[in-house]
This record gives sequence, C-alpha cells and structure tokens, in this order.
Amino acid sequence: MFNLVKGTHDISVDEADKYTYVEQILIQVAETFNFKEFRTPILEYTNLFTRSVGDSSDIVRKEMYTFLDKAGRSVTLRPELTAGIARSIVNSKMLALQDYPVKAYYVGPCFRYERPQLGRYRQFNQFGIECVGVNSPYRDVEAISFGYYCLKMLGFKNIKLKINTLGDNETRENYLKSLREYFSDKIEYLCEDCKERFNINVLRILDCKIDAESDIIKNAPKIVDFLSENSKNNFNIILKELDKLEIPYEIDNNLVRGLDYYSDVVFEYHHFSENGSSLGAIGGGGHYNKLIGEVGGPKDCEGVGLAFGIERLVILMDNENLFENKIDNSIDVYVMPIGPYQDRALEICNMLRLNGFSCDVCLENKNISQMIKKATKRNAKYALIFGEDEIKTGKIKFKNLKTGIQGEVEIDNVVSFLDNFDANLINKEN
Ligand code: HAM
Repeated sequence: MFNLVKGTHDISVDEADKYTYVEQILIQVAETFNFKEFRTPILEYTNLFTRSVGDSSDIVRKEMYTFLDKAGRSVTLRPELTAGIARSIVNSKMLALQDYPVKAYYVGPCFRYERPQLGRYRQFNQFGIECVGVNSPYRDVEAISFGYYCLKMLGFKNIKLKINTLGDNETRENYLKSLREYFSDKIEYLCEDCKERFNINVLRILDCKIDAESDIIKNAPKIVDFLSENSKNNFNIILKELDKLEIPYEIDNNLVRGLDYYSDVVFEYHHFSENGSSLGAIGGGGHYNKLIGEVGGPKDCEGVGLAFGIERLVILMDNENLFENKIDNSIDVYVMPIGPYQDRALEICNMLRLNGFSCDVCLENKNISQMIKKATKRNAKYALIFGEDEIKTGKIKFKNLKTGIQGEVEIDNVVSFLDNFDANLINKEN
C-alpha cells in the first residue's frame, strides 16, 4: 500500500462526476460572458510568483512548492493561476494588438503547503477568470456578477458577497502609514503572526484569523477614510451597479485578501449553511493595477479576476444536496450475451458506440439475472440479450429497463430501432 501525499486527495468515479458537473456549469457561464479558455503550465519559474503574488504574502513566504530543476533553476508548482495567465497574455503579445480586454477562463490544479483540513488541501483545483486591459469599474462589476451568477447556476442560496476597496496606490500609501502608526504601540498585544505582518505588510494584520475579534483590530483606521476621490467614485459606481443588478453584498473594511497584487476593489464569496458553519471563502478576487506591468506588460494595463476553489464548491454542494438529479451517469445500452458469444457482443457494442450510443457489455460469462443486476447497477436504459437461438434467427431480445417493455429486433436494425425506440412505441400504441 502506498499512502497519498499529505494534503492531496483522489477524485474517482462518483466524486469525479461531481467535479465534471461543477466545471461544466462554470465553463458554460464563462462562455456566456465571452471568456475564452487558457491553459498555462503547472510549473513556472519561481520569480513569477515572488514578483506578482508578492513576497510579503503567506503564499510566497510559507506555502510554495519550490525546488531546483536539474539545471539548478528555481521552479514552483503554481499556487494560483492569475500570475501564469498574466505572464501568458503578456508573452503572447495579445496586449500589443490592443484588442482589449483579453478575457480568459481557466481550470486546473494548484499547490499550497497549508495545514490540511476539510476544504483545505495541498493540491486543489481552481476555476477562475481574468479580464485584462481594463480600468473601468464596470468591468469589475462584470467580474463580480460573473462569480455571483456562477454560484446561482450551481444552485447555491446562502451566499454572502463580501466587498472592500484597497484604493489606488496613493490611497494605500497614506493608509499604510496610518496603520503602521496605529499598530506601533499595540502590536505587542497581538499574535506572533501579526508581529511578523507588522514588519512585512501591515495591511495583513486586518485579515488575522486569530485576533479578528480583538478591539485593537476592530478599532484600526478604516481605508474608507483614506480613499482618493477617484477610488471613492469607482467604489461607489461598483456598489450602485451591484444594487441595480440586485446582487446583495456586505462591505467588509477588513477584507484585504492574501495576495499582494490587488488594488481598488477586492471581494470574496462565502457560503453559510443553515447551522451557520462555513468553510471560509469559496471564491475571491479583485482588481489589479500593477500585476501586468510586474510580469513585463504595459505599466498602465490593469485587470480584474477571481477564482473559485472547486473542492470547496463540491463539498458544500454535497452538503446542500445540490447534486440531486443533476448528474446523469446512465448508459444507453447494456449488451448481454448468453453463452460463449462475447465476440458477437463486442461487435454489436462497437456498432452502437460508433453510432453514438453509450454502451457497456458483459464479457464475463454470467447468467441472465446476474447480468440484469449489472445492467441496473450501470443505470442502463436498454438491455440487449441474445444466445444461440437469437444468433441463428438474426433477431435479438431487447428490454427497456426503465419501463420493462420488451420484444425482439433484427440485429442489423438495432441502431435505427434504438434511435426511434420512443417513436416506435407511440406508433404501436396508436
Ligand atoms: P485565493 O483567494 O487565494 O485567490 O484562492 C481562490 C479560492 O481557491 C479560495 O477562495 C478557495 O476557495 C480556494 N483555495 C485556496 N486555497 C485552497 C486550499 N489550500 N485548498 C482548497 N481550496 C483552496 C486566488 O488564488 C486568486 N488568484 C484569485 C484571483 C484571480 N484574483 C484575481 N484573479
């Protein structure tokens, strides 16, 4: 027996159907917003993340899977996809064409060396979007509403959208100065992590999970009091538009997000179950005004994006029974040879498969009731049954396993018969 690497998990059979379902819904919504799929490598040079996600973030400082390749270059298993997408957009020269914005969606695995628990893994999957080449608050609204509609399409009811603004560069400079002054004589009363954050990125103290309820953090200066006119206007436009779209939100002045590239609006989607429990954020994102420049693109090129954690969506949807009647794992036909006719069974199967029927076959010499059990377990709609007599006459038995209706059909006509099965029945009834 080989154990799973700590913090990783297998996704197999029924579980995989759920992941596929979630991803398909998210992709459908992305396509209605005209986002196009991007696939970037899982492995990137480490400095891509130190430059973009930022070396003051916990992700870069503590959680990256970084190692030297055989030529001694430092590479990292991506902890998120935004940096790679930004790099790819810049490298591909799409921005040079100035056909703004570039709208990308993506799905794939990410790696973070975190403490594993329910909904938190060391390898997990994200689905996200990036809209690059924008500096209109209406694009931010488009992104935020995209996330909200995704969750609605998945069937979620109790969603809380938390939103904040980190302001523009000037706002943040003034705000950080004031935060540093405020915390300078209080930091000794906060946790060890906060003491570290005070030196590295004082903004992150606001996001501390340990001291979240302490008065020191609650009474800290609020960024809204520092916003430049421009930042204030942009934020107000966003809130007003969300109101118009009837997307409920809650302003959370302490929402700062864990990645360094954000500016202006940031947001997170949380889900609360009936008993009030939460897995933390199921998705989050924000606007970025320096990221594209940091990875070699035009300095004034801005973007907005968000990502969902697919594991968290699946866990919550399971808890809320949102997969009920959504996943069709049935097959069209189960072929059942009675006796040593596996070769004929495979031929019939192939004929059906080539004509688009999903089809499985029993090749293990079972008796009829065992095969019916297998067909039922595989959720087959039709069984095709034949033995020596049927092969002689060229007519095989069919049974609709859902309705129990049965009869005979010529082997050569099986495809057209199944194609018209429902129509045949109606004709017979008439
Ligand atoms: P993030 O908030 O770090 O943002 O991650 C997005 C989502 O990924 C989280 O809300 C959570 O659902 C999921 N997630 C994060 N870490 C884990 C984990 N260890 N195990 C399971 N799920 C996890 C980003 O990654 C940004 N790139 C989002 C973004 C896109 N911002 C702009 N564009």
